[in-house]
Amino acid sequence: MSILKIEKAKAFDEVITDIASDKSISHRCAIFSLLSDKTSVIRNYLQAEDTLCTLNIVRSLGAKIDNEEGVLCISPPSKIIEPPLVLDCGNSGTAMRLLMGFLSSADGFFVLHGDKYLASRPMKRVSQPLKEIGADIDGRNNGDLSPICIRGAKLKPFDYKSRIASAQVKSALILSALNADAPSFFTEPELSRDHTERMLKGMGVDIGYENGKIIIHPPKKPLSPLDITVPADPSSAFFFAVAAAIIPDSKVVLKNMLLNKTRIEAFKVLQRMGTLIEFVQKEDKYESIGDIIVRYAPLKAVEVSENISWLIDELPALSIAFAVASGTSSVKNAKELRVKESDRISAVVKNLKLCGINADEREDGYDIEGGTLKKARFNSFGDHRIAMSFAIASLLCGGEIIDTECINTSFPNFIDILKRLVRVE
Ligand code: S3P
Repeated sequence: MSILKIEKAKAFDEVITDIASDKSISHRCAIFSLLSDKTSVIRNYLQAEDTLCTLNIVRSLGAKIDNEEGVLCISPPSKIIEPPLVLDCGNSGTAMRLLMGFLSSADGFFVLHGDKYLASRPMKRVSQPLKEIGADIDGRNNGDLSPICIRGAKLKPFDYKSRIASAQVKSALILSALNADAPSFFTEPELSRDHTERMLKGMGVDIGYENGKIIIHPPKKPLSPLDITVPADPSSAFFFAVAAAIIPDSKVVLKNMLLNKTRIEAFKVLQRMGTLIEFVQKEDKYESIGDIIVRYAPLKAVEVSENISWLIDELPALSIAFAVASGTSSVKNAKELRVKESDRISAVVKNLKLCGINADEREDGYDIEGGTLKKARFNSFGDHRIAMSFAIASLLCGGEIIDTECINTSFPNFIDILKRLVRVE
């Protein structure tokens, strides 16, 4: 089990050009390339464990994948191959849930599994609506837990109202609608990240809004291939934004970031807390892309209770800013945090208490009283975002993080970048 030792950092002024590529978009690039009959070209695909699992699965389903000097060329098979082995999603809920939607209407029998953390995450939110439209899908605990077995079937069109704002649920359902005989409709309580809609539209799917519902028209011909450069992941970059926000006199420029409004809400919360932040848009093809500049200023407490799905991945890192702000910050309506790679409500509160911060857990969030962080030994709980959040906290107090291999699931060069700011062993 690897342990990271991190010293206290001094003020820094850095331009970071090598933040990991966007994980959500990378997963979709691999899976969506199977929807075309031509070769998709993908630059800057995320080379991390989660997205490499998805790429391997796409290969097992028959795609030919060439890596030409870092540019992926994914040629789909004329027909999906029924793989002889189980399909390993690793730690990735996105891979498992999106593939459940895609494979439910593919021809063949498929088994999806993952690591011990993924094995305890709920899949019923996807398997249940899929069963209702005719999917032959099962798993432990009546289809809620992996391994998940799927025998592809002809699915009915649907009008589904999701109770949770989850891009994974939405994307799985949208993928399952593509082979139906008539249009399907999907509604979510608030807009979750919309990369699936944008990318499929770019590939030629007639997908849009009708009376507040997403309407998906099944395409009549194969989709156009993707030709895309994956931007840097704002959820990964956010760790360094928090570093600049908590270390007096620091500044960081984060280059070529995805600026989709459903993905930069955590930067907006930091801005509300007092941090000086500029967004400089540079291009807008499938997505808006540009630089984010973050400068230190004293932090004050906030309450976060809206647009939770827009900052669900960043709340652990944001909690480090709460821990040093003046006043008590609270997060509400964030019960989803309990079913991420770890129970992130419990993980954040336990680790903050270890470094002397008053933090209280509630079923749907937490309250954190700003204070002075003390040196501590933190647990990652096997969760990449918990490991990286407390690595950033350690920049203020010095610390050790236990069990940090999980960082490789999303941000393998995180420690290299951290080493530009401070000594890390
Ligand atoms: C993701 C959606 C989010 C997010 C996850 C990636 C995606 O999950 O937490 O890291 O790529 O669709 P939910 O949509 O289930 O909240």
